[in-house]
Amino acid sequence: MEVSCVWSLVIITVLRICRVHALLPIPIISLEDKIEINEETKVTCVLPSSECQRLDVELRIVTEEKLKNCVAYKGNLPNITCTLEVTNDMHELELSCEAQFRTKSKPQKLNIQTAPEFTDCPDKLDWVEGEENSFHCKAKGFPPPTVVCVKNSVAYMEGEKFTTLKNMSGDFNCSATNFHEVSKNVTVSVQYKPHTYRIRVEPSDSVMEGTDLTLICEVDAVPPPAYSWLTTADHVLQDHRNRTLHIKDVKKEHEGYYFCFVQNKHGVQTLTQKITVLDPEIVPESDVSKVSKGSGAEKTGPAYCELLSVLIYASLYYLF
Ligand SMILES: *[C@@H]1O[C@H](CO)[C@@H](O)[C@H](O)[C@H]1NC(C)=O
Ligand SMILES: *[C@@H]1O[C@H](CO)[C@@H](O)[C@H](O)[C@H]1NC(C)=O
Ligand SMILES: *[C@@H]1O[C@H](CO)[C@@H](O)[C@H](O)[C@H]1NC(C)=O
Ligand SMILES: *[C@@H]1O[C@H](CO)[C@@H](O)[C@H](O)[C@H]1NC(C)=O
Ligand SMILES: *[C@@H]1O[C@H](CO)[C@@H](O)[C@H](O)[C@H]1NC(C)=O
Repeated sequence: MEVSCVWSLVIITVLRICRVHALLPIPIISLEDKIEINEETKVTCVLPSSECQRLDVELRIVTEEKLKNCVAYKGNLPNITCTLEVTNDMHELELSCEAQFRTKSKPQKLNIQTAPEFTDCPDKLDWVEGEENSFHCKAKGFPPPTVVCVKNSVAYMEGEKFTTLKNMSGDFNCSATNFHEVSKNVTVSVQYKPHTYRIRVEPSDSVMEGTDLTLICEVDAVPPPAYSWLTTADHVLQDHRNRTLHIKDVKKEHEGYYFCFVQNKHGVQTLTQKITVLDPEIVPESDVSKVSKGSGAEKTGPAYCELLSVLIYASLYYLF
């Protein structure tokens, strides 16, 4: 039983091989009937009609002598015709025809392992707080590297979108990794409108006449903002353009509201501070804080009118 099985397998295999060979048509070469010395003669090769018609075939006439003007046709019945200049030593020259069947696989690409290399990764990035941004840091290499930018163990993938925060300012370590790793520093600068503002007053917002008073407009903003001061106190200052306002030897007429206007290209802030000036002859030093509160309250009515006028003035100032 087993033996006959093996035999039938062998027969099938042989048949299959034969069939494959049978499919390949044998080209037919033909020569002209009458060939004369010093004349040209045509040599033709055709592929007989067969089931293999659709194969991509290249026909070639093979001989020791030189053939000229070969013209080949592809298609259902491919053929080739060449001419030969006949000389008398060509008697019994052998000519044959060769058919080459061409088949082609799908193309495969050669991928060479290459270490990462930054191609387009700027050293500096300028962002504005609140805007949507991403690290633009391209690297080439194979396998394609993964690019990630890290600061304080906060990591952003290349191209990952996020809303820019103030604390993103600083140096990021951007690395490109496949089987190898390269890295570079990318300095991020984040600009933002005035933040965390207040007016610091030294020594205090309630001062005795004759004291030296300092008002400092404390604002966090990038780029550094422009400052300007306005006040309801008469004839104290016109247009003071500094962060710090010094008033030497404070007088009663310095009492009032002080406004600090802060502006950079991303925003504007107005800060307000009330200053109370105490008369040392009326107020005993121990009662300074108590009385200053009282006098502040008394002043409230007229002060608001003054505040309004200053704000109108300020808006005009910003308009022009
Ligand atoms: C060769 O093939 C072309 C196109 O199929 C045909 O026109 C031409 O007659 C053929 N020549 C010969 C010699 O069979
Ligand atoms: C910035 O601060 C936020 C919280 O406000 C935090 O989640 C983030 O990780 C910080 N970013 C960096 C780069 O330190
Ligand atoms: C980035 O960090 C890696 C390790 O975390 C370090 O090897 C590399 O030197 C750093 N690159 C830069 C430019 O600081
Ligand atoms: C990268 O920045 C770090 C500070 O964040 C600094 O210590 C280091 O020297 C810088 N490396 C390069 C290559 O500039
Ligand atoms: C601002 O202060 C600087 C010194 O800190 C001074 O040189 C400048 O004149 C001041 N500007 C105004 C407008 O007062």
